Amino acid sequence: MGAPGSGKGTQAEKLMNEYDCHQISTGVLLRQSIESGSDLGNKVQKIMSEGLLVSDDIVLDLIKNQLSEIGDDGFLLDGYPRNISQAKSLKDLLETINKPLDYTILINVPSEILIKRLSGRRTCSLTGKTLNIYFSSQSELDECLSNGGELLQREDDNEDSIIKRIEVYEEQTEPMIDFYRSAELLLTVDGQGPVDEVYLGLKKLMEL
Ligand code: AP5
Repeated sequence: MGAPGSGKGTQAEKLMNEYDCHQISTGVLLRQSIESGSDLGNKVQKIMSEGLLVSDDIVLDLIKNQLSEIGDDGFLLDGYPRNISQAKSLKDLLETINKPLDYTILINVPSEILIKRLSGRRTCSLTGKTLNIYFSSQSELDECLSNGGELLQREDDNEDSIIKRIEVYEEQTEPMIDFYRSAELLLTVDGQGPVDEVYLGLKKLMEL
């Protein structure tokens, strides 16, 4: 868990490349449903573009479907749960399938850094790699552009939506920190440094 722009997706991608484990990202699944033009996509598009949370029932169904597809493999949840009610539903669900959470990782980043990261975020149209016009190296950006790719910006990475998403995080997601701390499942990593430095911190924490 972590605020919008804290690096959840970036770090999850690195973990998935190194470990044999599935990434389940509710944000990615919801954006895929919008792209496919499905009923679900049409239902959630406006909510997401405004930076609000989609209903708990919708995201719980997505998680249930994904867990049933991956069978016995390990998994990492990215962006789920996001409020206490979702955290309780997840606990019940994982108890039912006898796969309790190992731990929750909070990526801690001050809000002034988040806005720059989100407004600079771009996705390469060729590789789907997450990049940043302020923080990625010129060679990483060129690798996409020189092969004919475009740097795409997410619909909800506009100023109004970014501010709303950070507000929603502070009001609804931050209370979950205490929920997981009291369950002794909370690990916290400093997410302010460069991507590789944060990743090293994350791995050290997981090894402990
Ligand atoms: P989601 O897709 O989960 O978005 P988010 O939580 O707003 O998080 P982001 O994806 O914006 O940030 P991130 O932490 O993954 O950062 P990233 O690694 O990309 O959700 C989108 C929407 O879907 C929600 O608003 C909601 O409507 C809905 N939704 C999703 N889950 C839901 C749920 N459970 N319940 C209800 N609704 C739900 O990094 C950001 C940028 O910074 C990138 O450009 C990256 O390159 C750069 N960067 C990352 N780390 C570093 C670093 N260490 N140094 C410099 N740059 C960095």
